[in-house]
Amino acid sequence: MKTTHFSGFDRRRFIQTIGASALAGFPALGVEGANDKVRLGLIGCGGKGEAHLAYFSGLKNVEFVAISDADTAHMAKGVKKLESQGQKTPVGQHQDYRDLLDRQDIDAVVIASPNHWHALHCIHACQAGKDVYVEKPVTHKMSESAPMIAAAEKYDRIVQAGTQNRSDTGLIDALDFIQSGEIGKITAVRGLCYRNRDSIGRAKNPPLKPPSTVDYNLWLGPALDLPLLRKRFHYDWHWIWNTGNGDIGNQAPHELDIISWFLGDPGLPAQMNSFGQRFVWDDAGQSPNMQTLWFELGDVPVIFELNDLWIKPGTNAAPSYKGTRVGMIVTCEGGEFRGGRGGGNIFSLDGKNKIQKFPGDAGNGHAQNFIDAVRSRNSDGLHGKLARSTQTAALSHLANLSHRSGSPATGKELREGALASSPDLLEVLDRQEAQLDRWSVDTSKTPYILGSDVTVDPSTGKLSGELANSPLANPQYRKGFTLPEKA
Ligand SMILES: NC(=O)c1ccc[n+]([C@@H]2O[C@H](COP(=O)([O-])OP(=O)(O)OC[C@H]3O[C@@H](n4cnc5c(N)ncnc54)[C@H](O)[C@@H]3O)[C@@H](O)[C@H]2O)c1
Repeated sequence: MKTTHFSGFDRRRFIQTIGASALAGFPALGVEGANDKVRLGLIGCGGKGEAHLAYFSGLKNVEFVAISDADTAHMAKGVKKLESQGQKTPVGQHQDYRDLLDRQDIDAVVIASPNHWHALHCIHACQAGKDVYVEKPVTHKMSESAPMIAAAEKYDRIVQAGTQNRSDTGLIDALDFIQSGEIGKITAVRGLCYRNRDSIGRAKNPPLKPPSTVDYNLWLGPALDLPLLRKRFHYDWHWIWNTGNGDIGNQAPHELDIISWFLGDPGLPAQMNSFGQRFVWDDAGQSPNMQTLWFELGDVPVIFELNDLWIKPGTNAAPSYKGTRVGMIVTCEGGEFRGGRGGGNIFSLDGKNKIQKFPGDAGNGHAQNFIDAVRSRNSDGLHGKLARSTQTAALSHLANLSHRSGSPATGKELREGALASSPDLLEVLDRQEAQLDRWSVDTSKTPYILGSDVTVDPSTGKLSGELANSPLANPQYRKGFTLPEKA
């Protein structure tokens, strides 16, 4: 395992190379006209990064010129992929992303690193004068929003979040239809994230050693240097708080994002609560596999159900609700939208009649939407605007803060206490307990965690109450990898 010395990001390097006057408000380096080639760099070439190599390369006059990954094996895989796609021009490989950002032949970067790196990678890219496409959740911690937005504004960068559902043609049409008022006002929203995930196990001889091809100092970056107890090095960082945000910060940001969008992006809820647990899986993961949230966005009540447990042992399938596994149900006075990525349908309230279909394209145009803004230097038409995306990422953070500061509660205690006045939440609990029963889980012996109420000051958009000062809400960064105080 190679280790690179990292003493932060030296912005002076950029000022020396490109000239101080150029740093604020200059267009993407080589993009001068509507059809000019946009040259990209990729930061993070794991599962999603590799998919981006095909996705962006499929656009007209868009080309990757360099890849960075802390794991040289992933970088090499990425180069092979570009070659197999027919790319003839050479692709630079930089294990240290600062070397990629140093290049003068890159207009924009696509960031598909783990969550704990998103803020720093994005800020450093803005400082280096690159436009940015950054994967969701755009932040790993709530406090990262402001410095990211400040950097994008200061350096006048185009920043798009990888929340591609906002580009889904079916969802765009469905929202238009709802906004036309034909089926009345929205009265309630249900978010659904039912995935059939499995346990991640535990390392045989912990701590797990990173693969020899990984520069672990660069991989770890701002995260704390804690023993790795998981079996698989890549991807499973999602389920460890130090680096990931659980599935409420992995799959669910997509659904939380479209809920916020359909409700007019009203900002953060004044209050959120939750109940959940990591049931059945006795493994190294820390995040819950059942997590139910309730809050109001604007004045609309939202219940969000995350449920990653199979329907029953031996049946590798996720449950569903009203025919939907991953998506949302938007109930209006005169009908109900059911759908998500790829569009959906509007049904009568009793679900018996399909009023209208809205077939979508899974947000296929999201990358082009970014490239168009890079060329026009105009962020107005961006579908994944950074400021909005930080707000929807914050919904995941609020959910996890609620869970992590909560206390054990049996199903009976939930039923008779926190959920007693909500028939909808009681119905969720009934379904979950029936499912848990099939796994021989008795919540009187293995209780849920009833989250604490998290509250947000509407005037500042910041956490309020006791939790605001707790270490959970003020996480640490590893020395040398703190966020810059000033953009
Ligand atoms: N928009 C979507 O639909 C979607 C889908 C999947 C994943 N994602 C997001 O993409 C991101 C990556 O997910 P993944 O599944 O590809 O994870 P992954 O673990 O497979 O890949 C992450 C890659 O980043 C690399 N990396 C770590 N530190 C780095 C650094 N300092 N510089 C450069 N590379 C570094 C890792 O070595 C790894 O190759 C996550 O934030 C995830 O939420 C988005």
